Amino acid sequence: MTREKPKNLWLSRWGFILAATGSAVGLGNIWKFPYITGEYGGGAFVLMYLACILAIGIPVMMTEIAIGRRGRGSPIDAIGRAVRENGGNPLWKGVGGMAMMAGFLILCFYVVVAGWAFAYTVKMLDGSLAATSVEGLAQVFEAHNANPWQLGSWSVLVALLTLWIVAKGVQAGIERAVRWMMPGLAVMLVVLVGYAFTSGGFDEGFAFLFSFDTSKLTGEALLAALGHAFFTLSLASGAILTYGSYIPDGQSIARTTFMVAIADTCVALLAGLAIFPIIFANGMDPTAGPGLIFMSLPLAFQQMPFGTAFGVLFFAMVSIAALTSAISMIEATVAYLNEKHGISRFKAAIGAGTVLLIISMLAMLSFNLMAGWTPLGKNFFDWLDYLTSRWMMPLGGIFIVVFAGYALRCEIMRDELDLPPLGYALWLFMVRYVCPVLILMVFLHALGWLGFDPLQRWYWIAGAIGLLTVLGEGLRPRVMPALAGR
Ligand code: TRP
Repeated sequence: MTREKPKNLWLSRWGFILAATGSAVGLGNIWKFPYITGEYGGGAFVLMYLACILAIGIPVMMTEIAIGRRGRGSPIDAIGRAVRENGGNPLWKGVGGMAMMAGFLILCFYVVVAGWAFAYTVKMLDGSLAATSVEGLAQVFEAHNANPWQLGSWSVLVALLTLWIVAKGVQAGIERAVRWMMPGLAVMLVVLVGYAFTSGGFDEGFAFLFSFDTSKLTGEALLAALGHAFFTLSLASGAILTYGSYIPDGQSIARTTFMVAIADTCVALLAGLAIFPIIFANGMDPTAGPGLIFMSLPLAFQQMPFGTAFGVLFFAMVSIAALTSAISMIEATVAYLNEKHGISRFKAAIGAGTVLLIISMLAMLSFNLMAGWTPLGKNFFDWLDYLTSRWMMPLGGIFIVVFAGYALRCEIMRDELDLPPLGYALWLFMVRYVCPVLILMVFLHALGWLGFDPLQRWYWIAGAIGLLTVLGEGLRPRVMPALAGR
């Protein structure tokens, strides 16, 4: 079979790298990474997180890009074509469907959170954050959420901006937007770290992020790190796979993946270096949790020279990061409707957007009018988060690696990845034996079904990986021949 012809391609060599970095860098880096690092003990957590990015994030991202580029299409179509080329079971397309849905459902609550960042950019300017205590700011935050019109308008604004960019297409919309947003983000981050450096709390902030306390190396933290590695790289949600389908043929998937992963990690670490010194210099609590940036940072900004300017800069930066992530969550759906049903991107964006607006309004109402509606103990917003992050993403991740590592003929991925024998063998080993075991563990643990601390029983994990390797290579040797260059 001849290779699938791409319908869309990134214009420049940097197109994919910028767009994928835009997808990866989001609220996960600037808001969540600092606060879970605080929660799980600083340096020890950072180390585990880096290990997870290397061991799971990078192999899975390479796999998604390779499948996307091989099949040249939305997750469903790309997997479908790979299956057809391979001669396999078309049910695998369901994995693409689930990933696409996960991305869409994540967006339904992500627009609400992104709306906070947009609203706070304006609040920074108009003086509504002039409270003099963290409690006062907590009240501002609560009042913002209690008003469905206010909260709703910001969510709708984010949703409309996202749809508008996506409707314009891959090059004119997405690529053009990220081409100025990503460098802008980098500049803002550097300015903020520069300020943090002179704020008086830098040493403390630095030590908090990078001091290494072995007693904090727990299984709990490892699993949090693994889950976050998935989320922060936008994996198992169709985003990276669809963006990968627009990469020109000659570009190296491995090199591209490393660049995106390194950029994403640098932003997370820089965000920590910008945020924690400010927190420490103002004597605030680094473990304040999810409300950290909304409830405590505005107070810090008030106390610093040019605080309003820095505050606006900070929340504008979070908003842009969230927007470039939001775009990637709906691109798979729009690409699917566009290709499969011949609907123009514009109409596809309107159709998908209508559903998005309805579901995201329900998510938004969970903070006010519908706060009391908690079927099975969770409100609608929490259900979306729970279903996607606890079920759909881990399952999607396992299916993707099993698909690439077991279901597809070796030549397909080898062709697409185009690595030297050692690199290819390493990828194959990770995808066949290491990733499935580790992801399965996160999944079971997240559900509360793994009755032990995986780091204290690390030999169970090593044993399971070893056993699977011996079995796999015994029954159908793949890694060993690859190592020998065959
Ligand atoms: N990676 C983004 C962040 O860190 C979030 C994100 C973008 C995402 N696209 C995704 C998460 C798809 C899950 C699935 O904020």
